[in-house]
Amino acid sequence: MSVEEAKITASQEADPYSLGAGFNGTEIVPILEAQIPLVDMGFLHSDVCYDVVSVWKGSFFRLNEHMDRFERSYEGLGFSMPYTKEQMRQILIDMVARAGLRDAYVYMCATRGLPDLDDPRDMEKYHQCFYAFAIPFVWIVDPEDQKIGTDVIVSSVPRIPKESVDPTIKNHHWGDLTRADREARGKGAKTALLLDFDGNLAEGPGFNVFVIKDGKLLTPDDNVLLGITRLTVFDLAEEMNIEAKACKVPVETLRAADEIFMCTTAGGIMPVKSLDGKPVSGGKPGPITMKLREAFWKAHDDTKYSTPVNYD
Ligand SMILES: Cc1ncc(COP(=O)(O)O)c(C=O)c1O
Repeated sequence: MSVEEAKITASQEADPYSLGAGFNGTEIVPILEAQIPLVDMGFLHSDVCYDVVSVWKGSFFRLNEHMDRFERSYEGLGFSMPYTKEQMRQILIDMVARAGLRDAYVYMCATRGLPDLDDPRDMEKYHQCFYAFAIPFVWIVDPEDQKIGTDVIVSSVPRIPKESVDPTIKNHHWGDLTRADREARGKGAKTALLLDFDGNLAEGPGFNVFVIKDGKLLTPDDNVLLGITRLTVFDLAEEMNIEAKACKVPVETLRAADEIFMCTTAGGIMPVKSLDGKPVSGGKPGPITMKLREAFWKAHDDTKYSTPVNYD
């Protein structure tokens, strides 16, 4: 056993929730004990939708918006959930409290669930399931690296078209995103931006993308998840009197951008410093991006966005 493994084992023995907490469909358990049934169609056919919300300094950020989007996702798949939205919301809060996490990455999912084994082809007979977990906050790009910016590529892998999989239902069809990410790493970049089949910007593996040109923010209006961080960028831009618009963003506009940033729950606003090896905004984070990034983290102290966790 390595020193690191020994440390993890010791801390788990002291507190089984030290690595996080999971909800296995019926109860909250230590994260490494949380399991799902093998015959769940969420696992077998990716017949699942999910959401991820953050907890920052002891409060959920925009929990209601995440629960509303989650509801739109599971209703979009025709699921009938075993818990109400309010009950699922409370399970998330209880899970974070149980794990004692002040800064957390909180995942929830709804699956088509378990078949009637006598007639597994009848989808109407499935029993939908709700699972969740809370672990320490996850950064797609480390905060220190965000200060210098990220190298990205335009992937040769097109985003799965919305006609095949609806990107506004947050889903597990990550095959294109994972391929694009691997392509980026193979080229020495950190991650990738994917285009749609018409050559317009879509999104990246776990994030939305904004382009800044002549002081205006542009982000794709189609073939993307309607990110909650993207929504926050629109809110902050309005407060800061920066024009922001959702529209088609052709790859030529992307390549001519003054600034580019990625945004997501798992990392916030992440500046791009190069695209396909060419510097963006002089090879460093752009000034408007950094102003928005500062405002984004400040917004976490705003009570209109936060739901405090009671840890007692
Ligand atoms: C494909 C995709 N787009 C965008 C996002 C950003 O969404 P949000 O800001 O709600 O985290 C995510 C988040 O995981 C994602 O998976």
